[in-house]
Amino acid sequence: IKVTFVSADGTRRTVEIDEGLSAREAALFNSVPGIDGDCGGVCACATCHVHVDLAWMDRVGPPEEGGMESDLIQFAEGTTETSRLACQISMVPELDGLVLHLPELQH
Ligand code: FES
Repeated sequence: IKVTFVSADGTRRTVEIDEGLSAREAALFNSVPGIDGDCGGVCACATCHVHVDLAWMDRVGPPEEGGMESDLIQFAEGTTETSRLACQISMVPELDGLVLHLPELQH
């Protein structure tokens, strides 16, 4: 399954990841900078914040309402309605070709 990460300066990196892994792992395993994932991918740190490309928003969807992710994402900087935590985006075949935009800095 392919995922393309677009960094804040416009650099695009397309990586491949196995089904069932997360978008955070796709970045991590391929040394894509910009996703820290300090908590190890358990939805507790918000440093894996990404913006889902508008064209993909329908398929990825927003964080589950009232879930851990929607609580936590408030702590990430510069969030918008396309914000998701990459560790909570599970890579499934329907998301092949997914485009994610990386925020400038993660804190
Ligand atoms: Fe910590 Fe996603 S890696 S919230």
